[in-house]
Amino acid sequence: MSIRLSRRAFAILPAAAATMAAGFSPAVAQSAAPIITRAIPSSGERLPAVGLGTAEVFDSDDAATRQKAAAVVHALLAQGGSLIDTASSYGDAERVLGHVTAPTHLRTKLFIATKLEAPDRAELRNSLSRLQTAKVDLLQLHNVDDPQQSLSQFREWKAQGLCRYIGITSTYHRAFPAVEAVLTREKPDFVQVDYSLDDREAERRILPLAADSKAGVLTALPFGRGRLFRAVRGKPLPEWANGFAGSWAQFFLKYLLGDPRVTAVIPGTADAAHMTDNLGAMRGALPNPEQRRRMVEFIASL
Ligand SMILES: NC(=O)c1ccc[n+]([C@@H]2O[C@H](COP(=O)([O-])OP(=O)(O)OC[C@H]3O[C@@H](n4cnc5c(N)ncnc54)[C@H](OP(=O)(O)O)[C@@H]3O)[C@@H](O)[C@H]2O)c1
Repeated sequence: MSIRLSRRAFAILPAAAATMAAGFSPAVAQSAAPIITRAIPSSGERLPAVGLGTAEVFDSDDAATRQKAAAVVHALLAQGGSLIDTASSYGDAERVLGHVTAPTHLRTKLFIATKLEAPDRAELRNSLSRLQTAKVDLLQLHNVDDPQQSLSQFREWKAQGLCRYIGITSTYHRAFPAVEAVLTREKPDFVQVDYSLDDREAERRILPLAADSKAGVLTALPFGRGRLFRAVRGKPLPEWANGFAGSWAQFFLKYLLGDPRVTAVIPGTADAAHMTDNLGAMRGALPNPEQRRRMVEFIASL
């Protein structure tokens, strides 16, 4: 993919390029396999299956953070990705993303998902202003915890063109009954829940309902906030995973993408080389059901 960048973007990208080069996986770089995309159930629009999560990584709007964010966004686009998940409550993340994307005209190449704490017009206006955009691609109601929560205001904003899709999120299992109720009644375009190789409650409860409601699924916390990397520290990838994973990150992400109900995974990172590694999960073979069973057993045995 060719990306046109402004002079200002180039000024902050050399360090980024060096970071990327340092950790670049030749297996990923040379992969000629097409990228894996998934259809958004409500529209059929296809979304690259690996995105970027921005919780805690771009919390302060300073030069160093903007530089890191520019490198990560560049890596995302360079490998065919487009999805960035953020939130009005993620420190300065929206502001940092706005600074990185608006002057470099990258906005049109990105699928930006943000979250509001409530259907509050002022909060939406502030988010759009920080992101320096007239509309977001996906507007999510953050941390749904009441079965009565309504998406009617979000639907109105969608009709007004302030967002293209609407969604709900939660990573609290005690709130899953509320997520189930809102998902069934309000039929959002997306639901975002925590789902990782060692946290598979969503597989049993939310994914089947999402499929019934024709909602796309974004998986938050795909590495369990880094817990999975700590579990395999010092261990080589098992030989039986060589056919589909070139790194532990790809092993963890491809487990999730092996479920066709998952629309996209959104691993968080402030590191461009990690972003490139994660995007490697968007190419090549995915584990089959038998291999996925083996992956669960492997992680459970650690
Ligand atoms: N309620 C909600 O809606 C909700 C709640 C939580 C999270 N989320 C979303 O889900 C996203 C993902 O969650 P998360 O960021 O908290 O946790 P995560 O994606 O499970 O894990 C992030 C951790 O993994 C590390 N990492 C990433 N790629 C790596 C790689 N290739 N190799 C080694 N380490 C790697 C990161 O460190 P480095 O920075 O060093 O790469 C970071 O420490 C969030 O950013 C947010 O967008 C939503």
